[in-house]
Amino acid sequence: MHNDVTATGHAARIATVDALLPAPLPFEVGGDSALLSAEVGDTTAAGLTTCTGLGPDSPRSMWRALVEHRLEVQLAGPDPAAGLDALLTRWDEHLGSLARVGDTECAAVLSRPSRDTAGATELLRHGFAPVGVLAVRPAQRMAAGPDATPGVCIRHATPDDLSTAVALQLELQRYDAQFGRITLRPGVEELITKELLHHLERPEPQVWIAELYGQPLGMVVLQMPDETGWIRHRVAASRVGYLSSLAVSETARSSGVGTALAAHAHQVFDEAGADVVLLHHAVANPRSTPFWYAQGYRPLWTGWQRRPAVRSR
Ligand SMILES: CC(C)(COP(=O)(O)OP(=O)(O)OC[C@H]1O[C@@H](n2cnc3c(N)ncnc32)[C@H](O)[C@@H]1OP(=O)(O)O)[C@@H](O)C(=O)NCCC(=O)NCCS
Repeated sequence: MHNDVTATGHAARIATVDALLPAPLPFEVGGDSALLSAEVGDTTAAGLTTCTGLGPDSPRSMWRALVEHRLEVQLAGPDPAAGLDALLTRWDEHLGSLARVGDTECAAVLSRPSRDTAGATELLRHGFAPVGVLAVRPAQRMAAGPDATPGVCIRHATPDDLSTAVALQLELQRYDAQFGRITLRPGVEELITKELLHHLERPEPQVWIAELYGQPLGMVVLQMPDETGWIRHRVAASRVGYLSSLAVSETARSSGVGTALAAHAHQVFDEAGADVVLLHHAVANPRSTPFWYAQGYRPLWTGWQRRPAVRSR
């Protein structure tokens, strides 16, 4: 049963798991959302399920399936893994009547605190895969990348850099789309161009270009603490920076350009007084995952996904 006992027990458990996790917010039931619950002995589980849909022309559609069923989870009692297992079975029943079978534009997703590992086996058994991570880097964390390439110059991007910036971002999206989160659809180039132009037309765009002998090789895009209201609630910190993307052109990779851009980004965030920096990366990306952990990040939330949400009836 979902009641205050589940919410309180869940909050108490989470508080011991990771000091950088925020206190869980109470569920807000409304609109199309539904409350699910399960009990296994003294263990209770509660879930809030919601569904959001986007058109392919929405900038946010690049990062996800067009229809997303999401479950927020609270687990309390002695056996949280069994609680999650029972809750996932309830969710499967719920999705069975809602989601189109075999539709890869319809995904079931849930975020779990990365260090709350209870229930990982059950998620895999229900057909979910750990696809993305929201990683966190507390300010002043040591980094251990290679030495930066001598001669790399990092400068603000200007509207004249639009075509370079679009090419770098497209290269990144194409590479990252292999790993399950990012979805390339017709029109992606127009969406990226519009987004980057919006950034570049600002007086001091938080888009930085790395160049060597005048040749642009890489780019990092940042969101300063006053722009991160959409994600700030995911971490126990007051000033939160967000690193939107970092791309190095294929020919220049593994030579310290990414490290130089990341070091620059962290300096910009330090100057803005950020307590932590967050970023998303794809778990299976063999370049970004080791890169970010060498730069002082670590997992905070793990995004699990089943896509299609329903494979067969
Ligand atoms: C991820 C990415 C930005 C990294 O940029 P990069 O310029 O290649 O990174 P760097 O050269 O600064 O750092 C990577 C190197 O540091 C090395 N390294 C890591 N820790 C190190 C340490 N302690 N000491 C020395 N070297 C170290 C790595 O081994 C790697 O070299 P290798 O590939 O030869 O093994 C780039 O590979 C890229 O654009 N990838 C495709 C797009 C992408 O995935 N972007 C990230 C999306 S979140």
